[in-house]
Amino acid sequence: MDIKTVGVIGAGQMGSGIAHVFALAGFEVILNDIDTGSLDRAIASIGKNMDRQVKKDAVSEADKDAALKRIVTTQNTADFSKADLVIEAATEDEAVKCKIFESLIPHLADHAILTTNTSSISITRLAAATDRPERFMGFHFMNPVPVMKLVELIRGIATDDATFQACKGLVDKLGKTASVAEDFPGFIVNRILIPMINEAVYALHEGVGTAASIDSGMTLGAAHPMGPLQLADMIGLDTCLAIMRVLHEGMADSKYRPCPLLVKYVEAGWLGRKSGRGFYDYS
Ligand code: CAA
Repeated sequence: MDIKTVGVIGAGQMGSGIAHVFALAGFEVILNDIDTGSLDRAIASIGKNMDRQVKKDAVSEADKDAALKRIVTTQNTADFSKADLVIEAATEDEAVKCKIFESLIPHLADHAILTTNTSSISITRLAAATDRPERFMGFHFMNPVPVMKLVELIRGIATDDATFQACKGLVDKLGKTASVAEDFPGFIVNRILIPMINEAVYALHEGVGTAASIDSGMTLGAAHPMGPLQLADMIGLDTCLAIMRVLHEGMADSKYRPCPLLVKYVEAGWLGRKSGRGFYDYS
């Protein structure tokens, strides 16, 4: 299938990163959000992140300008009628995602593939909320999208092979590596990564070490590029908690219990970098 136009729903850090990499790879991109402020911030951050690549000579100024021109923003899901493939990258909340599918589906072309960047929610269950479970699958990018090389591909029970091959072909065109995961809560990366972050929050909660010592323990002691609490602040504590809850509920195993301190921070609105405060202060 020849995919030329990609729709992205949600202009947060994942949605804007996804729009960035598709536009640079030559695709026409339609970036949608309900909030114009988010769309404006997304375009500004895509420009800034492309500038980093220009500075490193990874991208030319002309390619950057052409890529930015390929991104159109819209608040109207009717504009997705031109899309060959749509990636939903809204908040990690099943009800929100299903509501988005409901408003999107009447405008989608028959041939269009619908995918989700969910970090943990069942692909089969999300597919069942659409009109096209055979043309639906998980297309899971890592943060920061322009830097991280992996995309997890997750089939739902009904996903057909043409859909899978089309998505696999897109990952290749983006210059990234596909990792195929089965439809289990958290798939592969978050099944391993988010409990590690949750354990770091437990270590903080129980007073095993300060945030700085927990993070330096893992950067200097285990060669992670950033500490687990710094990483949680980058991912967003609300997203980390949502994923832990999916793991806890989906596996029915107390080893996935979200740390009470993580719950408390989210309840306080301390969501990490995006809110100015998480385990560290960004104000
Ligand atoms: N866009 C484009 N380029 C970016 C970027 C962005 N948003 N952010 C960083 N970069 C580039 C920089 O230009 C730099 O490039 P060079 O090294 O070629 O000069 C490189 O990335 C490193 O950036 P910095 O020097 O600014 O910072 P750093 O060395 O501290 O690296 C990092 C930053 C890439 C984020 C690194 O710390 C890292 O890899 N951290 C771990 C990230 C991770 O684990 N991500 C997965 C999260 S889990 C997930 O996403 C799944 C989920 O569902 C929750």
